[in-house]
Amino acid sequence: MKLEICPDIETVSQIAAERLATMIRAKPDLGIVVATGNTPMPVYAELVRMQARGEVDCRNLRVFQLDAYLGINDDDPRSLFGWMMRSFITPLGIAPENVVRFAALPPDPPAECLSYAAKVRAMGGYDVAVLGLGPNGHLGFNEPPSADDAPTRVVALTEQSVASNGHYWGGPDAVPRQSMTAGMDLLLSARAILLVVTGSRKQIILNQTLHGPVTPQVPASYLQTRPQALILADADAAGGKTA
Ligand code: PGA
Repeated sequence: MKLEICPDIETVSQIAAERLATMIRAKPDLGIVVATGNTPMPVYAELVRMQARGEVDCRNLRVFQLDAYLGINDDDPRSLFGWMMRSFITPLGIAPENVVRFAALPPDPPAECLSYAAKVRAMGGYDVAVLGLGPNGHLGFNEPPSADDAPTRVVALTEQSVASNGHYWGGPDAVPRQSMTAGMDLLLSARAILLVVTGSRKQIILNQTLHGPVTPQVPASYLQTRPQALILADADAAGGKTA
């Protein structure tokens, strides 16, 4: 795991987008799993600007959904698939057939998780995972405790995730209590992992992720064991430090 501390969110986003662009130039059909949440949005916006300037062509990317609330249809404003479409797929002009997703209202959610994981594996796994850090140390919706081999599955959200996601949807009551998430096994096997961490509210959990024990109680702590992981943090998240 490598850590890079940047002065502010803008710099984090520029560096993250530039890293992604370098990978995309080398492999235009890169397989990328993209997190929703506020944190990576400026990264995606920067990639869109770079594409508009002709600096990178993202249209041939293969994109994988990271996680999905259970019981939420695509036309619901809380749909994480919808958020991924609006922030990444549509502005970058990626064809919908190049997106591997979780079905919106699967009749058998555990079977849907198995099917998603089988598709990812059949396509050779993720080239790169762009992730945010949950206030409870989750990656995707791999809620604590999640070991490094936790599979793609249905999970119950912890109260902490319900509270933090409540900011997006008008309060905790609007947050679904279950989700499907790409497993730790798939995420930690990505050939590159980019974890974006910004804001002072991530200070404590970032410190635990970087320096605490490697434990299922802090799923992101497994990144300590992954040399292909790069953590990009702003000074606020890093406790005022800059590199
Ligand atoms: P955030 O979420 O972008 O809202 O901080 C990160 C996460 O929970 O994974």
